[in-house]
Amino acid sequence: MHTQVGIIGAGPAGLVLSHLLHLKGIESVVLENRPRQYCEERVRAGVLEQGTVDLLCEMGVGERLKKEGLVHGGIELRFGGKGHRIDFRELTGGKTITIYGQSEVLKDLTNARLAAGGQVYFDVDDVSVHDFVGNKPKIRFARNSKPEDLTCDLIAGCDGFHGICRPAISQALTIYEREYPFGWLGILAEAPPSSEELIYAYHERGFALLSMRSPQLSRLYIQCSPEEDIHLWPDEKIWGELHKRLESTEGWKLIEGPITQKGVTGMRSFVAEPMQYGNLFLAGDAAHIVPPTGAKGLNLAVADVRVLAQAIVEFYKSGKRHLLNQYSATCLRRVWKVQRFSWWMTSMFHLFPDASPFDQKRQMAELDYVTSSRAGAQTLAENYVGLPM
Ligand code: PHB
Repeated sequence: MHTQVGIIGAGPAGLVLSHLLHLKGIESVVLENRPRQYCEERVRAGVLEQGTVDLLCEMGVGERLKKEGLVHGGIELRFGGKGHRIDFRELTGGKTITIYGQSEVLKDLTNARLAAGGQVYFDVDDVSVHDFVGNKPKIRFARNSKPEDLTCDLIAGCDGFHGICRPAISQALTIYEREYPFGWLGILAEAPPSSEELIYAYHERGFALLSMRSPQLSRLYIQCSPEEDIHLWPDEKIWGELHKRLESTEGWKLIEGPITQKGVTGMRSFVAEPMQYGNLFLAGDAAHIVPPTGAKGLNLAVADVRVLAQAIVEFYKSGKRHLLNQYSATCLRRVWKVQRFSWWMTSMFHLFPDASPFDQKRQMAELDYVTSSRAGAQTLAENYVGLPM
């Protein structure tokens, strides 16, 4: 088997890249080791930056997103029992975010790729990458237990944090990393969202977040220990904690409903540099992880492959590697700004186990500043809706 670009991973990065290349007449094959259903049903992120929405629409996969996505012009920061709205439209010259689950994005992308005759192989095994330092890279994998070789010009490693691409070039990488001493316990509940917009709550018991997936589905999180045992959290205990942490003196009420999914995720900041070695290019979670407090993971993955697609298009048009050689540096400028924002949001809202009373007073002062100064609110808003490409 031969193709122009071999893409490992059918997440948002791999599928957006494959479709962008297709629109420019470049052929790719996407290999994914998980079943299609797993990819499309796993509950992941849900906030799309304006730039992500615009790109998906320009690519022709925005039809359902435009119909079903919930456009939000702001978020609420809640502390001391009171809400403070950050007005994105007013602070960023009209920009918004859109609530639309990653699982829905994946369904739309997979359908678009398959409808266009795209080659996306789910459920493959034993994927490995070879010879990417020369100009005859090769991907080995097994399909229906049959070994196959896929030769290509370039390999895109879009296979996530636990994928095989980053370890394949680990000797060439420098890793920058920070782990946080807490995680998030997240639930999906069949309850109408208790607020029209997202609520980020600072509370002495720990952070809480109210989000949503649709007018009937709430998505909620509470800060917990990174090793929290989900079995110790019956539904009533989760609701009890959410009521306490989201408490309001302004007459607001939390609406409960049956919990249909729950899980614990750890939190880390992680960057691997550079994002390229020879003809192997890393994109998305394969190269970097942000803590979820700024809702940036998916958006950053899409920003990477937008840069990569442009570089690949130039490569095939002119034979020049100029943009390919700049790929890593171009992406890392954005990656580090998004790392900084995600770290800042995380630090501002979470209770750190070793925090002193001074630290807590400082956190409150920071929230007070961000919600009472236009400059403070604007720096949050500008980053949240997404920095310009
Ligand atoms: C979500 O809806 O899953 C979500 C929203 C905002 C975040 C993180 C996750 O910061």
